[in-house]
Amino acid sequence: MSTYIVALDREVLPEGLVRGRMDTAELVIWRGASGSVHVWEDRCPHRSSRLSAGRNMGAYLEDPYHGWRFAEDGTVIHVPAEGGKGHPEISAHVLASAVTGGFVWASAGVLETGDFAGPPLRPLHFGVSANRVAAELDPTKTRITPWGAAACMVYGIDPDAMAAHRMLTALRRRLEAAG
Ligand code: FES
Repeated sequence: MSTYIVALDREVLPEGLVRGRMDTAELVIWRGASGSVHVWEDRCPHRSSRLSAGRNMGAYLEDPYHGWRFAEDGTVIHVPAEGGKGHPEISAHVLASAVTGGFVWASAGVLETGDFAGPPLRPLHFGVSANRVAAELDPTKTRITPWGAAACMVYGIDPDAMAAHRMLTALRRRLEAAG
């Protein structure tokens, strides 16, 4: 299983919920009261609602539909329909994750963040496959996260953010125009 960047650390604000993607998995990314960033599948284990539509209450994430509450480790700590009973045997789908170099990394398997640090660029969505974009970019300065088979998100590092952003947007135009 591969490890991918799924967000910038600075985008994951306290009390916020960030939607992300990695391959075909939809993600919810959030920072708990502990300061740790969590990456979960964006799917409630109760009836599969989007957890990203819920609320980040710091100590827990609350589902928008039936109000189940999930602790930072993903376990269910409160079910309103059962008088607030917890269910530690039930958990959100938690992915292995870490924050390094200003990026949030996640993996559905073993987490391997590697050595990638520098001033992070604003991520860019490309409407072409990860493989096509990877063939054009310097792997020491970019990491590419597939978004399904036909799109991807490009994360980069570069001290010259303006020039790097211009290069990436020009590349995106060219690749998307080529279809
Ligand atoms: S769908 Fe999440 S609490 Fe019911």
